[in-house]
Amino acid sequence: MDLSSNFLSEAREITQRENLEIKFIFGDYNEMRFEERFSVIFFEGSFFYKSREGLVSLLTRIYKALTPNGRLYFEHPNQSKIKNQFPMVNLSEIEKNVFVLQTGEYDEDDSGSRNTWLKIDLKTQVHYKCDFFLKHLSTDEIKNCLVEAGFGNFHFYKKRRIEDFDPGNDDGFSLVAKR
Ligand SMILES: C[S@@+](CC[C@H](N)C(=O)[O-])C[C@H]1O[C@@H](n2cnc3c(N)ncnc32)[C@H](O)[C@@H]1O
Repeated sequence: MDLSSNFLSEAREITQRENLEIKFIFGDYNEMRFEERFSVIFFEGSFFYKSREGLVSLLTRIYKALTPNGRLYFEHPNQSKIKNQFPMVNLSEIEKNVFVLQTGEYDEDDSGSRNTWLKIDLKTQVHYKCDFFLKHLSTDEIKNCLVEAGFGNFHFYKKRRIEDFDPGNDDGFSLVAKR
């Protein structure tokens, strides 16, 4: 699911190339009622929310949409470490001739960051851009939101790794929560 038709068409191309059968949805997951049930709900670089209430609402809808033993995965910045890293400008080559530019500003009033993520493919000249705001909640607050949403079983890992998250050192974490 994505709000961006550019990202969705790139994903469609990849699934055709890889011969996979995947259904894509154009839309906003904050508007989604999640009427079907899923064994896994997975966010890659795309788990954003604007407020604590927004997070609890999203987590509650996800919880209800998971089958028993279903898993939620997302990755997230570590608020206590990441706040000092704004303003941020960061350009990296993720594959040959494909660059990702990330910029971000911290907004003290809203205690969150305003970010832009831009992917540029020099071969095809195609670029994809997304702007988003992410409220920065502490890991303890995120735990409370998970519990409020119904999750009793969850684990914080190092970002995209199967090792325990270290809140004092890591810039971010991956979360796996089980219904
Ligand atoms: C950093 S990109 C990551 C894209 C992709 N998941 C990947 O790993 O290459 C973030 C994506 O989240 C999407 N996004 C942000 N908020 C969204 C929302 N509320 N509903 C659906 N998609 C959203 C953006 O359109 C953008 O494509």
